[in-house]
Amino acid sequence: MGRRRHLLGLEALSREETVAILDRAASFKKDGRLIPGKRDTLKGKAVLLLFFEPSTRTSMSFEIAAKRLSADVLRFNGAGSSLTKGESLIDTARNIEAMGNIDVAVIRHSVPGTPQLLARSIDAAVINAGDGAHEHPTQGLLDVMTIREVKGGFEGLKVAIVGDIAHSRVARSDIFALNTLGAEVTVCGPATLIPDDITALGVDVSYDFDALIPEMDVVIMLRIQRERMEESLLPSDREYTRCFGLTRDRATRMKPDAIVMHPGPINRGVELAPEVADGERSVILQQVTNGVAVRMAVLEMLLET
Ligand code: CP
Repeated sequence: MGRRRHLLGLEALSREETVAILDRAASFKKDGRLIPGKRDTLKGKAVLLLFFEPSTRTSMSFEIAAKRLSADVLRFNGAGSSLTKGESLIDTARNIEAMGNIDVAVIRHSVPGTPQLLARSIDAAVINAGDGAHEHPTQGLLDVMTIREVKGGFEGLKVAIVGDIAHSRVARSDIFALNTLGAEVTVCGPATLIPDDITALGVDVSYDFDALIPEMDVVIMLRIQRERMEESLLPSDREYTRCFGLTRDRATRMKPDAIVMHPGPINRGVELAPEVADGERSVILQQVTNGVAVRMAVLEMLLET
């Protein structure tokens, strides 16, 4: 990671690099909380946030992470920019870079591969904050950080990723990180939302959530991403919840120490019952806290000399 110029995905990240990021992220926490106060490791550095899709957690936590490390943060507003007059994304980024030194550009975009294109076009390091249904590497890292904190390790750990696998960049980054670290991953959901070739990523497939539930140590629930569907792939939310929702009843059939995760945003009552989202198995807000720690680690490690 120290010699890496960009973080574009987890597919090519080694176990050693992954663990180094998790260890650095863990160093920013004590007693389960982020250590308060600022560090000056990125003083004089500038972080550019380029979010072309909505975001709460990723966008805010990158800003918080950068500011905790004393970096300057520039947030680009696409809707009020010359993109609306036809300027390209790459011209936009090059023009912003020409105004001063940008050290890192963090980009979220609906088109897969946009962070890779940006990385080839500007001098700054690039971090992928989610590109279409391709990857969301810092989400994958904060998810494995959370699992490591709660479960202690990954060998033999059974992890289910449940829901809209086809449109989920989180599922792909989670699969890459979990496989790298030695967990056993099963994806589960309606056949219309699981790609035919998903087993090539080294996962098992299940269409029977009820059969899977008692076996799993970790259950990661995903939102149905209707905004990425060109046609309806589900009969109704009610039918989806009946077959694949983590309801209160299903949660009672989980292993006693199994945990529930969700990258957010949650559609409460659809993929996840409110009582389960807020219940004692849920580590969802721990994931959010870890998002800041992981993003601090990634920013620091990409910029250290
Ligand atoms: N998990 C995640 O990417 O959330 P946001 O879309 O709010 O950033």
